[in-house]
Amino acid sequence: MLAKLPPLGWNSWNTFGEKISDSLIREMADIIVEHGYRDAGYEYLVIDDCWSLRDRDENGLLVPDPEKFPYGMKALADYVHAKGLKFGMYSCAGVMTCAGYPSSYDHEFTDAQTFASWGVDFLKYDFCNFPETGDCRTRYQTMSMALKSTGRDILFSACNWGQKEPWKWMRSVGAHMYRSTGDIMDNYRSFTDIFRSQLDNLCMSAAGSFNDMDMLTVGMGGKGNVGVGKTCTYEEYRMQFALWCLCSVPLMLGADLRSVAPEYEALMKHPGLLRIDQDAECRSPYVIRKGSVFTSNPDAKEGEMPWRQIPDSSYTIFRHLSDGEFALAFINLSEAESTIHCELVDLGLPVSSGFALDVRDAFTGESLGAKRDYFNQHVPGHDMRLYLCRLVRSHA
Ligand code: GAL
Repeated sequence: MLAKLPPLGWNSWNTFGEKISDSLIREMADIIVEHGYRDAGYEYLVIDDCWSLRDRDENGLLVPDPEKFPYGMKALADYVHAKGLKFGMYSCAGVMTCAGYPSSYDHEFTDAQTFASWGVDFLKYDFCNFPETGDCRTRYQTMSMALKSTGRDILFSACNWGQKEPWKWMRSVGAHMYRSTGDIMDNYRSFTDIFRSQLDNLCMSAAGSFNDMDMLTVGMGGKGNVGVGKTCTYEEYRMQFALWCLCSVPLMLGADLRSVAPEYEALMKHPGLLRIDQDAECRSPYVIRKGSVFTSNPDAKEGEMPWRQIPDSSYTIFRHLSDGEFALAFINLSEAESTIHCELVDLGLPVSSGFALDVRDAFTGESLGAKRDYFNQHVPGHDMRLYLCRLVRSHA
């Protein structure tokens, strides 16, 4: 079965855009292995847009750009496979890709055959230049059938940016993951907006077909193709990675793994966080509490309250994991520090239950002991706390 768990990998777009080549992809394959990303679970190495010539050949086939990919795609796929990785490529459901390269509208079966003949294991399928008269659902279904017709296991990564509520139908057309938002940018606002926008849709994301909240920008530091606005701090990148894991969504890394700082490399391979992302039950998060952060307002005019309300910025989120574990997150999306509350009765643990939660910090591994009745956390602005918990008898 493909996509039994959220797929993990690396994609060229966020950092490299059109600046892709055979040597870059080979180097990235080497790094993924040498730096232990493969052993941490990252298996798909995906080339995004801009890999082909501007025209099909005389037989109507897609042609890799010989300057960027002088040995062709089969040779590159062989190299990637020899490293124990899987090889991903990109096309689009419209008549041209977003960057203006030939696309698969009305070429679905031919192109699927081409990809299969090159040894492709993963197809990201975009939505630019889609005809006004076209039916989105039918065209994704068509590519899904085309991929199936090849007889090769090709993971279908449908990227329609959340148009037409894909969480309602992408599973039924065979997609293994489906992009649910517009493009991520390498800044705080972008990834927190994506997170907020998908919380209610994640109940449809599970084994076989996952909500794709887009490729990560963790560790990019404003370098590359999606660096718009102020880049993120360590705590903000940690939040991005932890939120994606909490949501049990695909983790497609986007940073240049050849030069990423060691703290980000460690974050992207963090066993406690990956354990949450890759939990066998793939359950969606349960929002226990969502609210405002209140902060003092020194600019308040006479007669105004001396505080300010920042709505939709404080979350307590719980998730059932397998093997008797749970994840519990306290998320502060505002810029002001705040105390975030959790009454254990809201997790289904009233005092009368006689049970408490044994709590371990998912970032540091540190044990916080057993918590009963309530568990409040003071969280700095733009930061979160994330715990792995187990039920224990309460001794009070
Ligand atoms: C966008 C897509 C991005 C990237 C880009 C390539 O539509 O959302 O992830 O693939 O096209 O041109």
